[in-house]
Amino acid sequence: MDPEVMEKLAEEIKKWGVKIGAIQGIPLPESTCEIWDQIYNFQAREDDILVSTYPKAGTTWMQEIVDLIMLNGDVEKSMRAPCFVKVPFIDLNAKPMKSGVEAANNMESPRLLKTHLPVQLMPPSFWEKNVKVVYVARNAKDCMVSYFYFQRMNKGLPDPGTWDEYFSKFLVGDVPWGSWFDHVIGWWKVKDQHQILYVFYEDIIEDPNREIRKISKFLGKNLTEEVLESIRHHTAFEAMKKNPMTNFSTLPSVVFDQTVSPFLRKGEVGDWKNHFLVAQNIIFDEEYKKKMEGSGLHFRTEL
Ligand code: A3P
Repeated sequence: MDPEVMEKLAEEIKKWGVKIGAIQGIPLPESTCEIWDQIYNFQAREDDILVSTYPKAGTTWMQEIVDLIMLNGDVEKSMRAPCFVKVPFIDLNAKPMKSGVEAANNMESPRLLKTHLPVQLMPPSFWEKNVKVVYVARNAKDCMVSYFYFQRMNKGLPDPGTWDEYFSKFLVGDVPWGSWFDHVIGWWKVKDQHQILYVFYEDIIEDPNREIRKISKFLGKNLTEEVLESIRHHTAFEAMKKNPMTNFSTLPSVVFDQTVSPFLRKGEVGDWKNHFLVAQNIIFDEEYKKKMEGSGLHFRTEL
């Protein structure tokens, strides 16, 4: 990245990055709130594909899978640009870089887009244009751990404080993009009203080929087993960790300080067991039961 842009970026991060505002009670970076009208009025196109997630649910992984499916497994083309350039993040406004909205507006169709917005904040044009959405959900405990490390290394987000402090904040949804519970349940409830494929991170870990096949079918692609296997291979954790287009190594350390924690950190199910204290787990499980009851949404219990 151009050193001048990098310097400006560092300045902007100091100015905006750690500040959090709110839209309809949902905590969002203040720079996002600043251009909220533009985001909410974003014009989706019929052939867009949207990857939607709560932060740290495996967004980048799914972006790569979907991109490769749409490219019929062409790895060279999938490496045309870093993942954060080729897939505009519509609710991000990391100045002086182009906002996600601006980047998407300048992009030719078909576009692959990303959002972390809770469903009630979605720009209506996505529903009006009947856009296909792949939603990825990851179990709350691993999301919390992953987000804790991410808030430490991402200088555009507030420092998470200690693990104990973060545990309390996450549980009440006092983190950027709000409550994990409201997010996963909100999207679950509307999944049959729109073209939404609801996928679980843990299922992809368990059987990536099965899940990639399912996603291809949803996107109207009938790929051979050979192509599916090649997509699995190129989107495996170790492959993405080595790939400069997916490991964020092209982003300067004033934005992502990967010496604090790498972006592709562990990529496992159950890392929460190395972080949750016994007492925290009891508190969490009680709250989880209350919040998830009656939602009809079930994550695997044996993690
Ligand atoms: P961990 O911090 O638990 O390792 P997002 O892209 O939504 O920010 O999610 C990042 C999380 O997804 C990180 O989790 C990251 O390691 C994990 N991840 C990214 N690519 C992956 C892959 N190919 N396989 C498994 N996990 C992956």
